Amino acid sequence: DGETELPKTLLLILDAEGEFSSLKISQRLGVPHQQLVGAIKSLQSHEGLIETTDLEIKNLELTKEGQEIAKTGSHEFRVFEHVGTEGILQSEIMKFDFGKVGVSKALSNGWVAIDKTGGSVRLLRKAESVVDDVQKMLETLALGDSTKVSSNDIQQLKKRKLVSEITIKALTVRKGPQFKTTLEKPELDLTAEMMANGSWKNKTFKKYNFDALGIPPNSGHLHPLLKVRSEFRDIFFQMGFTEMPTNRYVESSFWNFDALFQPQQHPARDAHDTFFLSDPAISTEFPTDYLERVKEVHSKGGYGSIGYEYDWKLEEAQKNVLRTHTTAISARQLYFLAQNGFKPSKMFSIDRVFRNETLDATHLAEFHQVEGVVADRNLSLAHVIGLFTEFFRKCGLKNLRFKPTYNPYTEPSMEIFAYHEGFKKWVEIGNSGIFRPEMLLPMGLPEDVNVAGFGLSLERPTMIRYGLSNIRELFGPKVNLEMIYKNPICRLDQE
Ligand code: PHE
Repeated sequence: DGETELPKTLLLILDAEGEFSSLKISQRLGVPHQQLVGAIKSLQSHEGLIETTDLEIKNLELTKEGQEIAKTGSHEFRVFEHVGTEGILQSEIMKFDFGKVGVSKALSNGWVAIDKTGGSVRLLRKAESVVDDVQKMLETLALGDSTKVSSNDIQQLKKRKLVSEITIKALTVRKGPQFKTTLEKPELDLTAEMMANGSWKNKTFKKYNFDALGIPPNSGHLHPLLKVRSEFRDIFFQMGFTEMPTNRYVESSFWNFDALFQPQQHPARDAHDTFFLSDPAISTEFPTDYLERVKEVHSKGGYGSIGYEYDWKLEEAQKNVLRTHTTAISARQLYFLAQNGFKPSKMFSIDRVFRNETLDATHLAEFHQVEGVVADRNLSLAHVIGLFTEFFRKCGLKNLRFKPTYNPYTEPSMEIFAYHEGFKKWVEIGNSGIFRPEMLLPMGLPEDVNVAGFGLSLERPTMIRYGLSNIRELFGPKVNLEMIYKNPICRLDQE
């Protein structure tokens, strides 16, 4: 069939001639150039069969008018024909669209003459017969052969806008190191059988086409985490929260830990719990005044606190980490709020965090956190409880319990538990607290401003919602794409 005939023909030509240009062969075989290039490309997929170099060739192309003239004759020729042996009134010939240009060319060619002797303006033939060179030249050029037309004539045709110059991207083709004239179908896949019987050694394999676009999917499907995330976002929006920018996966230790009054010897800052970056290893730009105040509160205290009384080191704060919690985002936002004129604010974030953890059925090295913070004057523990109670009520969880806990940046702090009807037990669903003055006051927030915050993972509620018991079924390389394709819309039992 044609699809394999042309490549084979090209191999034979190459064998005989050693080298060819795609344009010349396309003219010789009377095959459209595009089709010829396609055949060459198909030969290129055979490793080492041929070699090609790109070639830019300027070529002439007939304009629309040029194509018409190549078919029906030049304007001047048609004038000559209409004048005939009898002659014709000039006004008659001018009625044709070829009249004006045709008459003036025919006159200057000496094909016709004007005769005014009979009281009217007539055209008479002056030559007995003429040759329509313009048409002939256009026919030649249409076949792609510009060498047979003089450059002077080409200039004239261009001027008359009958031809225009175009650049054609062609290919010079030579034999490759594995050249042969037979074409065996290359193998698409390396099979276990080929490997076992050693036949792979004598086979040629189709090259991977990394530029192939692939088959477009019928539609995209949201991952369960994204579905639950959009439910949570909606709840936050309903409660009047705005979303914080979460695009900084890489954060300095300063914003991830120091700004949160997390001492530099804190076990969480150990490489066992935190991923440190080697490149770029450090951040160097910090708000200087604020950095000084953070150093001060860590090492000497202030704002009614004695601090941690240790030698705070800039080098430690500079170390880049993959952020370990979304509270790093909250810290940046609260600092921004302090610096730009405090206004009571409700802000949330939902995005990825990283921890260097031992992986098991419920822990991965990366997961997502959901976090909400409320900053206002004179907030109390009751506000924190009210805040997350309302949030979880909107998630369908009404039966909550709290347990005091410790966070370096909140005091008091509470773990949040919900009764799980399926598991018939209390499960931890979040963490919360009031941010410490040692964190907020160095930022420059007014003294009577408190910030209530709470956080939870996105994975835990998603696994419960979609009935998954192993986190690897939800996230990572073992995820079954069928699950993503088929899982239902997330519905939290909202009221
Ligand atoms: N950052 C805490 C965590 O990682 C959650 C939290 C957010 C606690 C805000 C208190 C206030 O668990």
